[in-house]
Amino acid sequence: MTTTSQQPDYTTDRKTELIDLHPPAADMEQLVRIGLNRCPRQLPAWFLYDEEGSRLFDRICEQPEYSLTRTEIALLDSSAPEIAAAIGEGVIVEFGAGSAQKVGPLLEAAHPAAYVALDISAEHLRKATTALQQRHPRVPMLGICCDHSTLSSLPEHPLLRKQRRIGFFPGSSLGNFEQDDAIRVLRQFKQLLNGGPLLLGLDQPKSKVRLEAAYNDAAGISAAFARNLLHRLNADLGANFDPQAFSYQAGWQAEQQRVQMALISRCDQVVRIAGERWSFQCDEPLITEYSLKYSPERAVALAQQAGWRWLRRWHDPEDDLSLHLLEPTD
Ligand SMILES: C[S@@+](CC[C@H](N)C(=O)[O-])C[C@H]1O[C@@H](n2cnc3c(N)ncnc32)[C@H](O)[C@@H]1O
Repeated sequence: MTTTSQQPDYTTDRKTELIDLHPPAADMEQLVRIGLNRCPRQLPAWFLYDEEGSRLFDRICEQPEYSLTRTEIALLDSSAPEIAAAIGEGVIVEFGAGSAQKVGPLLEAAHPAAYVALDISAEHLRKATTALQQRHPRVPMLGICCDHSTLSSLPEHPLLRKQRRIGFFPGSSLGNFEQDDAIRVLRQFKQLLNGGPLLLGLDQPKSKVRLEAAYNDAAGISAAFARNLLHRLNADLGANFDPQAFSYQAGWQAEQQRVQMALISRCDQVVRIAGERWSFQCDEPLITEYSLKYSPERAVALAQQAGWRWLRRWHDPEDDLSLHLLEPTD
């Protein structure tokens, strides 16, 4: 065997390395057991994202009713130089990168030492970082497939060694967590970022009509995305769901300032998952995800509760969503 101390040539090596830390099937089975024993039943939102789920999410982003992605991309485009000056130097670590279509302006403006993308959807992440690497051949890149909400440290890697870390968490993905979990996740990110700042994209409350349309598009992509969860459980955990035996519902819950997305059992039915049998009553919901919305004031309070100091925000002309810049309080 030959060894070499040479650094990889990132300007010509188009394939981005991917470290795969996806939870094993046994852990997923345990999470399903916990989720189906809850009342109402609910699975972690990351279960929505296998390869097909990631593909469907990208299609949701293209729907006319779902403006979040377009608005956040435009905001990043217009504010990148200012944001770059505010975040400083280091490695950009993106949480839940998806198709990594938002970080481009920051890579151009901030010239980070490297870009590290975390996501639960391995194959989609591999494709996204490979495509991004081609567009930004000079930025060294790394993909890490993991559940970032339970990761206690980033893996040892030359790209991360002795580098200041700048967190980037767009897409209002923090809104998938209920408030207490969101605080826990933000604390976790503080640990992963080793004292570095966090740029956090959060969608804001708006009219019930707009929000319900955004999460229940006329083309039915949001419904297909939710039902894909059942296809995924069939494929990965040997379940026998009939996805058509569930209808899809998205509703704004004003008191909790969130959209709840759920699959509703159309009849009394029994489903087998990983060898266990689960009864669903007619009209019983299985919550697939929440999308909590944060006013700027609530975002500041949330950050403070999680040990982050709020520094400033950028927002779009309609003030629909914000990019908040946070730094750790200690
Ligand atoms: C709402 S999408 C946002 C994608 C992209 N950041 C954007 O702004 O368009 C959430 C992304 O986070 C990933 N994700 C969800 N939960 C995750 C978790 N617990 N750990 C890692 N990735 C997760 C999903 O695979 C998906 O790509």
